[in-house]
Amino acid sequence: LPKDIFPNRRNSAGIDLADPLVREPLLERLEALDEKHWHAQPTFMSDEEGEIAPIDKPHDLNDEVGTRRDALPHEVEDAITRAREIQPRWNAFGGERRALLLEEAADLFEAHTDEFLSLCQREAGKTLPDAVLELREAVDFLRYYAVEARRQFAEPIMLPGPTGEENRLTMAGRGVFATISPWNFPLAIFIGPAAAALAAGNTVVAKPAPQTPLIAAFAVRLCHEAGIPPEVFQLLPGAGEVGEMITSDPRLAGVAFTGSTATAQAINRGLAAREGPIATLIAETGGQNAMIIDSTALPEQVTRDVVASAFQSAGQRCSALRTLYIQEDVADEMLTMIRGAFEALTIGDPQDLATDVGPVIDPDAKAALERHVARRKKNGRQVWRRKLNKGLAAGCFVAPTIIEMDSILDLKRENFGPILHVVRFRADQLGQVVEDINSTGYGLTMGLHSRLEATREFVEARARVGNFYVNRNQIGAVVESQPFGGEGMSGSGPKAGGPHYVARFATERVVCIDT
Ligand code: NAD
Ligand code: ALA
Repeated sequence: LPKDIFPNRRNSAGIDLADPLVREPLLERLEALDEKHWHAQPTFMSDEEGEIAPIDKPHDLNDEVGTRRDALPHEVEDAITRAREIQPRWNAFGGERRALLLEEAADLFEAHTDEFLSLCQREAGKTLPDAVLELREAVDFLRYYAVEARRQFAEPIMLPGPTGEENRLTMAGRGVFATISPWNFPLAIFIGPAAAALAAGNTVVAKPAPQTPLIAAFAVRLCHEAGIPPEVFQLLPGAGEVGEMITSDPRLAGVAFTGSTATAQAINRGLAAREGPIATLIAETGGQNAMIIDSTALPEQVTRDVVASAFQSAGQRCSALRTLYIQEDVADEMLTMIRGAFEALTIGDPQDLATDVGPVIDPDAKAALERHVARRKKNGRQVWRRKLNKGLAAGCFVAPTIIEMDSILDLKRENFGPILHVVRFRADQLGQVVEDINSTGYGLTMGLHSRLEATREFVEARARVGNFYVNRNQIGAVVESQPFGGEGMSGSGPKAGGPHYVARFATERVVCIDT
């Protein structure tokens, strides 16, 4: 791409929490939103009563943040009918008009910063710095994909041909897209794929994760206020069964899914078995992410980056570090420093600014992580665990944990929480280490800390991952700068926040005219 392709677009500035003049009034405004009760329901709802499910704070299961009314089967069908009917008109809006609407939505998101931050904290258990990053990424996705709508969809591309022949290539929406999203980025990954699908001229039925429908409902409401017609972007709250109902509808043109690898595989099988058009599946899934540290790495930098990569967001990032490979000559020294920083982490209420590690999302997530640690302890390996404060019993807290093991291949599944595994290796085993990491079949993020150019080149040439980070942490990809997404069992591509993303939601049409 030419360098000046996005001359006027900048990522949003975020919020400077270090500045007390910004932070203190923000904290007061957030406190005022603490009692607000939210509700999520389908955009178009029939009169039929449906079940109402409570949404509780992950850090205090006795405190209800809002309620969810799931979409019923005939509401799912009706939503897709409406979305299909209006899609040609939305497509005919053209790239420029769609871009303006997405940009208007981004402005409204920023204007409602307080509500979004409050929801990220109360509904999803995020710390304030994580909530700020989440909102920022959501706004950046909206603006980035708006520019893509302008770049790729506003004007046709004129193609060469003999005199007397006009050849035109246009991009168009494929039809109705379903977007199905996870709870761990309840705003950014809810809005990102939907914004891309809309930018390309598709209409969207969006199913958020059952744990976090409230923030999604608020986002959809603001998109409607921005001028995106409600039939064009509809919310369908519900659990996996609602997702299954949506993806089994033969009228869908595509599915943009983010979540676990197992669910992506189930959706893929369902789409393949359906009658009707061949649907596009864009799937961003789990990871078994590793970081390699050799003896030339700087211990202070390693300590900071390992702790952030493994424990920020309570380890609930698909990009998070799960297995740390340390060269054995420096392993004891590095581990002593890492454990020092690990012992200093504050675990607690995410609404308390001092907290570094908040809760995991729900009791099922907590139980799965506890089972994993118990199994490892039974195997007799070295396990370091933080002690949890008794005051946290009403929430879904998992004590941050470090576990020694022999190889990444000992892990059979993604452990989605604050658990770091450590493996020691000899310098002559580096090739085997990379091979083992690759042979997990996942390929999302990898980190390397080394001052040796040859080591960087060696690992970079062999690593089969979507995002490779050198001498830094391995989380927090930034829209446009680090387009994000994996390969193999971690995803189908294209990369979110990158120049090829929106095009995957579109179909290409060629018109040839004998003039
Ligand atoms: P999940 O797979 O359990 O659920 C994701 C979504 O799919 C939810 O909305 C869920 O209701 C829906 N769903 C479940 N079963 C379905 C079915 N049969 N048909 C259709 N929809 C169905 O994942 P999760 O626990 O919500 O999220 C955590 C996972 O997401 C982790 O594996 C994490 O690595 C992954 N993730 C990946 C990325 C990425 O960009 N690669 C980003 C964030 C999260
Ligand atoms: N894009 C998110 C990150 O990089 C998942 O951490």
